Amino acid sequence: MNLENSCIVIFGASGDLTFRKLIPALYNLYKIGKLGEHFSVLGVARSELSDDSFRQKMYDTLVKFEKASGESLDAFCEHLYYQAVNTSDALDYVKLLPRLDELHDRYGSCGNTLYYLSTPPSLYGVIPECLAAHGLTTEEYGWKRIIVEKPFGYDIKTAKELDVQIHKYFDEHQIYRIDHYLGKETVQNLLVLRFSNGLFEPLWNRNFIDYVEITGAESIGVEERGGYYDGSGAMRDMFQNHLLQVLAMVAMEPPAIINADSMRDEVAKVLYCLHPLSNEDLKNNLVLGQYTASTIDGEEVKGYLEEKGVPADSTTETYMALRCEIDNWRWAGVPFYVRTGKRLPTRVTEVVIHFKTTPHPVFSQNAPDNKLIIRIQPDEGISMRFGLKKPGAGFEAKEVSMDFRYSDLSSAANLMTAYERLLLDAIKGDATLFARTDAVHACWKFVQPILDYKAERGQVYEYEAGTWGPSEADKLIAKHGKVWRKPSGLMKKKV
Ligand code: BG6
Repeated sequence: MNLENSCIVIFGASGDLTFRKLIPALYNLYKIGKLGEHFSVLGVARSELSDDSFRQKMYDTLVKFEKASGESLDAFCEHLYYQAVNTSDALDYVKLLPRLDELHDRYGSCGNTLYYLSTPPSLYGVIPECLAAHGLTTEEYGWKRIIVEKPFGYDIKTAKELDVQIHKYFDEHQIYRIDHYLGKETVQNLLVLRFSNGLFEPLWNRNFIDYVEITGAESIGVEERGGYYDGSGAMRDMFQNHLLQVLAMVAMEPPAIINADSMRDEVAKVLYCLHPLSNEDLKNNLVLGQYTASTIDGEEVKGYLEEKGVPADSTTETYMALRCEIDNWRWAGVPFYVRTGKRLPTRVTEVVIHFKTTPHPVFSQNAPDNKLIIRIQPDEGISMRFGLKKPGAGFEAKEVSMDFRYSDLSSAANLMTAYERLLLDAIKGDATLFARTDAVHACWKFVQPILDYKAERGQVYEYEAGTWGPSEADKLIAKHGKVWRKPSGLMKKKV
């Protein structure tokens, strides 16, 4: 029996994530031969649909978004099936039994089943219970795994409750909490950059690093997701998960070996070392913002309060900037400035390591600090910035850069998307890039006081759509003599 032969059951099969990310990811994996032929995909949602109409929908999606065509598309769609189930009614799950038996028989997948919860979070606890009621979680006949999408909980209390609920029916080794940032090639590269280069190791600590900037900027607004987003805000939508995971990759200790346990041990350890923020700390180190209407490139852009699904008096933050610290030997005293927002001037995710300046300025008062810019997306790459003599008389130092771009790698065209990588890992049973329960709790533990502070007294400043957030965020960093980088292109222009 091949352990990777499996049936992938997608709950929430009529949702956007299934159309936009999951089916395209599975199709691309199939096209490059990573799924073989012994797999099936069973879409599950409430509405009545035949296998054929589900296939047709997915076919159309793949043609539209992936520009798919040809034999591989037809062949892939043959592996797709659909079952209507009222997912909040335990009795209705009985319909899954004959379908799964039939698919496992047909594809020789011997009971191996990957459940993907792409549903509203309110069903995350219900679905495992209903599956268990029909014996669909036991591993007597093939492995059973469950992928849970974010948000994993709404706060620390609900995250813990959800864990208890899921753990009643699935062991931790069966639970895959997905954070698609961990599936990004460039986020994984943070580890390789750090742990395979002797060059950086001696410098990667409080003795040489002045501060770290982490930016997750988006130029889009909340689009059609106003209803969801308003209950989330930037803190729950981006910071609690994606950006804290990136921070962990930058700051964690090297694992002794790369496997799921040792990697995730180190991630959890560093997240637990985040310095807990008091209300006083937050008063000085947190800025929240909400975008207002504006005109960008001649086009009128709505303010957050005018977006569909957003209450007119909402105080949800669409921007946050935070200064935080890590209480351990490597990082004590090094500030991490983290910011994220919607409707900022550009889409960019990057980490900037600012190294300390020379102890004494020999050539110029304005010699630039050394920076390592790790561009996670787009224009993925790495840029090292350092000072060099400006040609001509005197000894004036100028900032120049040495740059690497992923697109220059001949293998860059084969980069997997985050969902491709993570789905494949889950099918193979490799949980290295999935968040473990302790790491998720550590993130909530750190974020909870920020949520409480916001609920009680956090002020939300306005910023015009298309700008780099409220001016208070500039003051936050300026208090410590720094400025936010305003990322545009990765590569430096000629000096
Ligand atoms: C999602 C958030 O998790 O990540 C979205 O819910 C956000 O609001 C998205 O736009 C950003 O992902 P990426 O991969 O485009 O940076």
